[in-house]
Amino acid sequence: MELSEEQQEAVERASRFVAEARYVVALAGAGMSAESGIPTYRGEGGLWTRIGEPDPRAYQNFAADPKGWWERMLDRDRNPQSPERARFGNSMQDAKPNPGHYALVDLERMGKLKWTITQNVDNLHRAAGARCITEIHGNRTLLRCVRCHFRTPRDEFEVDPKDLPPRCPQCGGVIKGDGVMFGEPIPQDSLAMCIEQTNRCDCMLVLGTSGTVYPAAGFPMQAYQQGSRLIEVNVDPTPISSLVDVALRGPSGQYLPLLVTRVRQLLTATAP
Ligand code: APR
Repeated sequence: MELSEEQQEAVERASRFVAEARYVVALAGAGMSAESGIPTYRGEGGLWTRIGEPDPRAYQNFAADPKGWWERMLDRDRNPQSPERARFGNSMQDAKPNPGHYALVDLERMGKLKWTITQNVDNLHRAAGARCITEIHGNRTLLRCVRCHFRTPRDEFEVDPKDLPPRCPQCGGVIKGDGVMFGEPIPQDSLAMCIEQTNRCDCMLVLGTSGTVYPAAGFPMQAYQQGSRLIEVNVDPTPISSLVDVALRGPSGQYLPLLVTRVRQLLTATAP
């Protein structure tokens, strides 16, 4: 990626903030996965832009008829032409992590990135090797109990089509996909961890998110108010841009490897 002098200066400033920081936390959004071939939700070509946002009462509808929800999901899994599959496509199924995901994992392994909060359900951070992570909107490869938050990989859980909805083996609660639906409260365990990590950070990387969906969109404001440095990586400006110390205006899959390479050089240069 050819950088202008101004862009090089921005990468240098961002790298110094990260190298000097004690506790870096990343907040990731759909833009992180755009270079893996997964459409974002908003803006040009976004999924919601194309097919309209889901029903804001999606969770209430699920809770009213979990059996019907499971029947439609099993139909989608069996039938590639199902309305659900047509609506959401297959992009997540075949996607692979991109250099942006791997750069974050490098930063985690260097001991610099202490935690990643991702809004993405595509599992790509974990597939790239991320360990210190909260998937605030869930993970498409997991199932979750709505009562006790028991989670299990979807492909390790036997669903009996004649006995729907499946029940939690721990508490008997209803099992659903781990993905947080519109209208569904964020699972308490995930939310508590996100708040704790935001409170601890003195530098937040805000990566590929439009900053429009709460509570995630509130974390950068919380970080700003406690005096943390904010670094945004996004192809476009967002409502968060006015708060940031440095904006790297371009693709995360290209900027994050440059940032992490420079951070590593700075840390090596200052190593005792
Ligand atoms: N690199 C960096 N940023 C990018 C890239 C890229 N290659 N491509 C797009 N972007 C930016 C867009 O400019 C936009 O600001 O990524 C952002 C994507 O915004 P959204 O589509 O709104 O995604 P996100 O912010 O993650 O949405 C939050 O909304 O519908 C819910 O649950 C869904 O988790 C999602 C939440």
